[in-house]
Amino acid sequence: MKTWLHKHLICPECLESEAALTLEIIKEKHDDIIEGELHCPGCGNRYLIQEGIAVIVPHKTLPHSDDQSGYNSKNMLSAYLWSHYSEFFNGSDATDAYGKWASHFQQTDGWAVDIGCSVGRLAFELSKSHTHVIGLDTSLPFIRKARQILLSKQLRFDMIVEGHITEERSCDLDPGYAYHSTEFIVADALALPFRSGRFSTAASVNILEKVPHPIQHLKEVNRILQKDQACFLFSDPFSWDDDVTNPDLWLSGRNNGPGKGRGMENICRLMEGHIDVFDPCFNIEDKGDVLWKIRKTQNLWEHITSQFIIGKRGIK
Ligand SMILES: C[S@@+](CC[C@H](N)C(=O)[O-])C[C@H]1O[C@@H](n2cnc3c(N)ncnc32)[C@H](O)[C@@H]1O
Repeated sequence: MKTWLHKHLICPECLESEAALTLEIIKEKHDDIIEGELHCPGCGNRYLIQEGIAVIVPHKTLPHSDDQSGYNSKNMLSAYLWSHYSEFFNGSDATDAYGKWASHFQQTDGWAVDIGCSVGRLAFELSKSHTHVIGLDTSLPFIRKARQILLSKQLRFDMIVEGHITEERSCDLDPGYAYHSTEFIVADALALPFRSGRFSTAASVNILEKVPHPIQHLKEVNRILQKDQACFLFSDPFSWDDDVTNPDLWLSGRNNGPGKGRGMENICRLMEGHIDVFDPCFNIEDKGDVLWKIRKTQNLWEHITSQFIIGKRGIK
């Protein structure tokens, strides 16, 4: 974990008091903490930094971050590396979705966060227009790979062809990426370990439907974004799954109750301040569809329409 990040971190168990974390460095290499420990003087919790990766999640999130299933599996790693970076290794049928989302970022002297960053592409895109960028995700394998890309400034991975058959892919990336001012950590979208108002830009792309408490995720976005001069890129396919999120907590896709109606309209209403989540509320600057693709094997592709909204507050 890069040393510049430490003083901006708070304990994810003590969000109300925004308790600062103290840092003990055990091993450091060129301003990168390889082994260390963050400690909350408020609740006494400790958060480890191991092999350069800081894991700063509430206690209840911890068991999910490194099991071998779901987003932590080898298959998902291959699928998301293809999805994020295939444009750079000329994968046939590469998706241009990340370039489309990134086209909405504007040059600023503020910080940006990509929440649910997976293997990091959008965070690297944000680094071209922001002074510092944090990508965060609950998946340790995703964050490990994103940090490996950050350190080597290149991509190399085994792309799944079929079953256990893989092919190596490697490539250079966009020379405009600012690796020194980008960092990846394991953190939870429902308890972001940052002080209020730290970021001028937040991205929440294809994660809302993946968290057990979607409104809490949006409240956290509101908290960590500046009240003035802030931009929020939201995008989601709204493919709610009752195994992930209790339908009573869905923000759309219901026939009645608070989640009644369609996602795009409901999230626009939330961002515009009709429901008490975003304060101050956002002006909707743009919205639309991004066609996004994930390649699982040579013969298995997912084609997804992710509906995006760009909200800005306090920007003339
Ligand atoms: C559908 S993927 C989207 C990844 C990336 N944003 C993209 O569009 O390529 C959802 C991501 O959210 C992450 N995720 C799920 N629950 C999370 C949580 N509570 N906090 C942070 N990340 C989470 C997953 O590990 C996964 O990387």
